[in-house]
Amino acid sequence: MRYHIRPSAVPLMGTVRVPGDKSISHRAVLFAAMAEGTSRLTGVLESADVRSSMAAVEALGAQVELIAEEPEGLSLAVRGWGADGPIEPVGPIDCGNSGTSIRLLLGILAGWPINAVLTGDESLSRRPMRRVTAPLSEMGARFQAEEGDVAPIGVSGGSLRPASFELPVASAQVKSALLLAALRAPGTTRVCEPSPSRDHTERMLPAFGVPVDRQTLCASVTGPVALSAADVAVAADPSSAAFLVGAALLVPGSDVSLPGVSLNPTRIGFLRVLARMGADVEVTKGPEICGEPTGDIRARYSATLTATTITAEEVPSLIDEVPLLAIVATAATGTTRFEGVGELRVKESDRLAAISEAINTLGGGAIADEDTLAIAGGHPLTGTALDSLGDHRLAMAYAVAGLVASGETEIDRFEAVDVSYPAFAGDLKTLQAGVRE
Ligand code: S3P
Repeated sequence: MRYHIRPSAVPLMGTVRVPGDKSISHRAVLFAAMAEGTSRLTGVLESADVRSSMAAVEALGAQVELIAEEPEGLSLAVRGWGADGPIEPVGPIDCGNSGTSIRLLLGILAGWPINAVLTGDESLSRRPMRRVTAPLSEMGARFQAEEGDVAPIGVSGGSLRPASFELPVASAQVKSALLLAALRAPGTTRVCEPSPSRDHTERMLPAFGVPVDRQTLCASVTGPVALSAADVAVAADPSSAAFLVGAALLVPGSDVSLPGVSLNPTRIGFLRVLARMGADVEVTKGPEICGEPTGDIRARYSATLTATTITAEEVPSLIDEVPLLAIVATAATGTTRFEGVGELRVKESDRLAAISEAINTLGGGAIADEDTLAIAGGHPLTGTALDSLGDHRLAMAYAVAGLVASGETEIDRFEAVDVSYPAFAGDLKTLQAGVRE
């Protein structure tokens, strides 16, 4: 689907409840499927990625019942496989576009004596899986992949031994896969990472009855340990909120409020960066929901933004927001530098190449090399034809650019937004209509 967008003639005004967090929704579905008993989940993101996790656990023997479809998300009752373990699936399990589904499932399946094949779409089939299969092999799991380290991947699980890992890359998907495998390994498995990646797994496992020992940069689980059913409410997704925050900062006169967003510190590096840039963003802390700090974000048009440097250390806390921050940086005075962003090359697309090319096509000044990105601010953007490459976050970042670029911006394959934020275009329209809830 091609999406056409012009500079917003009106400020963005009002309140939008952005959908449930994608990372938390995946984990709620997967952990509930592993647990003994029936878990009740609310606010679950209704999107293609989370549907991949739901279909996968059903193929593995969990029962997923839709209780209600509410504006805040899906209410589900999930009956897990518990002590019986997952059943051997009849055919390959299609993880679609979802890196979180495939990587966490590889860890979950590693400890059970069944064979399963995990596949995905074209994008997922290009993404590196050895980062998960190599450490899981050390624990005793076996994998078969035709083309080296990409899907389709066969997993033959069984008895695991505990291990200690120093991950070369900060990745919550890898860390989570290893901690989930560790549940079935007798003894303590420890996972350390170079800088803190999102910690939803560590925060949610205790609710399912699994103690997680946490030190700075390391998490340990002692197995064997079983999950028992839990009730989980999913907070709104800061990564989805980021696009509306960015839009509000750039469109003159805007004033946008986003309530109930996860303010997990491992996720809101983008808010810290925007504060450094002088953005008018206000955060009001709210209640903790299922171990996740939450609160409200209010973003207002910010006429004067200044460039900043994003260090490699803080990248994991804003890894999914780099495309959006790069667009915001086009409006800042000076050159914004992103260091240590090479991981963007192995996301749903090569986001580093794509965002720098798109910004240059729009008339901005971007330079990317293997691991860094520099955006020279102050070049006015001109609408043009862009391709999302089937990448949801690029599609939404380009739409934010289209709100301020002169003329018309066309975004090809815009349906990619269904992966994480199906209502994105509708929510933008709501804000343009200035509707306050
Ligand atoms: C995710 C972890 C991150 C992130 C992805 C979701 C997760 O990936 O980019 O969108 O839910 O654990 P990596 O683990 O590859 O850093």
